[in-house]
Amino acid sequence: MIPFDNRDGTIWLNGQFIPWRDAKTHTIAHGLHYASLVFEGERAYNGRIFRLQEHHERLHRSAEILDFQIPYSVQELNDVARELLKRQDLKDAYIRPAAWRGSGQMGVSAHNAGVNTVIAAWQWPSYFSPELLEKGISLKISQWRRPAPDTAPVHSKAAGLYMICTLAKHQAEAHGFTDALMLDWRGYLAEATGANIFLVINGKLHTPIPDCFLDGITRRTVIGLARLQGREVVEERLAPDDLARASEVFICGTAAEVTPVGKIDDYNFTPGEVTRALAEAYSREVRLPEQEQALFGQNLYGVAA
Ligand SMILES: Cc1ncc(COP(=O)(O)O)c(C=O)c1O
Repeated sequence: MIPFDNRDGTIWLNGQFIPWRDAKTHTIAHGLHYASLVFEGERAYNGRIFRLQEHHERLHRSAEILDFQIPYSVQELNDVARELLKRQDLKDAYIRPAAWRGSGQMGVSAHNAGVNTVIAAWQWPSYFSPELLEKGISLKISQWRRPAPDTAPVHSKAAGLYMICTLAKHQAEAHGFTDALMLDWRGYLAEATGANIFLVINGKLHTPIPDCFLDGITRRTVIGLARLQGREVVEERLAPDDLARASEVFICGTAAEVTPVGKIDDYNFTPGEVTRALAEAYSREVRLPEQEQALFGQNLYGVAA
């Protein structure tokens, strides 16, 4: 893999489009030392970024939760992301915006540290290999748990929350699994390290209540698409034991899309019809022009999931 600091291309940093290799930050930055960084993961299909507005609204919200403001509006960020695709002639791409407290002040208090904002985009066709998608990925339940909402800013897509995701994923990989499944602080099923989870039980979709982890844009999209297919969706507390009742399991996220799960610890699942139908509907949805999408005009977060 080509290292990410040594690529051709253009990155937008603090208001300027600059050569990819020049997109540097100072080593003494609050974001680097104290994890005051928020980010997004977006995807473009056929040159169009799916749910762009929602991603940048979430980026703003994530920063506000960490008590700082991004100095560019959602509209400005949308325009920059689109322009980056154009300038680099990218059609199927991953887009990574981030904002972090800067170098104006060092120490825990950060009122005058300043804020940096970046957007990068690169070609990125698929997260998991086609063979893996066919039989489903494997998840290992992690010892690391999603924190309680009063111990961390759990609804911000903040770098600090990924410290335990990396540890969990490394541990899973060391045991031959694709990814980790994290429980929440109470021991209920929560999510994978970068994607939400759904169980199919008696033909209905069951998914954990996102009260201490990210309520993903893909999760909301999948819920909308499932309902259009006439499928009931239940948000509830799910215990690890509930995996025994599931006929199918899948994870979903911007990067993972809808990915079947074939195994969680000693539980085995066969990717089936429900997952396939939703994966196809999602794959169609993200590739359609906005006005032709099945959920066009629907505020994904406007109604109770
Ligand atoms: C921890 C975590 N959960 C869930 C998701 C899924 O969110 P989305 O569907 O908005 O990409 C992501 C990806 O951003 C994530 O990093």
